[in-house]
Amino acid sequence: MIITCPSCSTKYQLNEARLKRAQVKVRCMKCKTLFIVRRRNLNQEPVKGAETMAPTVPRRTPPVDNSRCVTMTICNQKGGVAKTSSCMNIGISLAQMGKRVLLVDFDVQANLSVLLGKFNAKSFFDVMDSQNESIDQHIIATDYGLSLLPSNTKMALLAKKQMQQGDYEYLLTEKLNEIKKEYDYILIDTPPSGDFFTLNALLASDAAIIPTQCEYLSINGVDHIVRMVNVIKEKRMHHLNYKVLVTMYNADITAANVILDKIKNKYGDHLLNGIIQMDGKVQESQINQKPLHYYDAGSRAATEYSAVAKELMEAQLK
Ligand SMILES: Nc1ncnc2c1ncn2[C@@H]1O[C@H](COP(=O)(O)OP(=O)(O)O)[C@@H](O)[C@H]1O
Ligand SMILES: [Mg+2]
Repeated sequence: MIITCPSCSTKYQLNEARLKRAQVKVRCMKCKTLFIVRRRNLNQEPVKGAETMAPTVPRRTPPVDNSRCVTMTICNQKGGVAKTSSCMNIGISLAQMGKRVLLVDFDVQANLSVLLGKFNAKSFFDVMDSQNESIDQHIIATDYGLSLLPSNTKMALLAKKQMQQGDYEYLLTEKLNEIKKEYDYILIDTPPSGDFFTLNALLASDAAIIPTQCEYLSINGVDHIVRMVNVIKEKRMHHLNYKVLVTMYNADITAANVILDKIKNKYGDHLLNGIIQMDGKVQESQINQKPLHYYDAGSRAATEYSAVAKELMEAQLK
């Protein structure tokens, strides 16, 4: 049922299952007023002193995206599966194929910004914090033919601040919609979680790209994202697609081959044909502070990432 705060008129969706008693006390997250909600009679009146119950944020119609830009979120609940490396290397591959690419660093760790030599710049926090500046003013050029919306430590405050204000799930969608016409591809790097950041990123995307190693726990992380994708598709009427990308594959390890077979069976057409193998050049390039394609363009991993980028271009994700 929809309830309305009698003080500030903010509307909330209240789960009827929570109304076990004839009346409950609810605190408005916006103006902090306490008011009573009755089961049968929905008249509400302010009261003094009661326990807090956080109302559910109201669902609303998703903002419309009329652009041709394809947006992809690189995500897996597990850390260290090559999310950031894949985001950068696929992004650079697409840029080298002449595409207009924006990378969004949506992780407070800011690893993507560091790898691109752009740490200590502004972030999506500053986009939301500024009154008059557009998202465009926070996007910076890199030396590698693509643009970056960097991250910084202030991103740690973003989730708390925005969630307190209620309607937070489409923040990134709305900001990216302002600039999508300027890009062919937007790639969003996310933290190893399924929280505020990943949800905002997925809602703004056409596809989730889920990197995974051929390890049991990484697949658990894939399952978690696939469940999120399915909930978003069902509850938000979203066309969200997903692709699984095997990373750091080592054919000499028997267990890796067993798990690769499981991944093939489980995800079928959602598994990208291109596989990224374990390649010391990836780490070497990061130590030398150069993207892989600029450090060693002929390396196995650089070639494999270019092939994956091509596969994604042909995949009709939008
Ligand atoms: N194909 C690869 N071969 C070898 N090492 C890799 C490969 N891909 C990524 N790595 C290394 O694995 C580590 C984790 O990668 P990263 O992209 O930061 O993962 P995540 O963003 O998922 O935490 C980094 O040290 C990175 O250099
Ligand atoms: Mg990362």
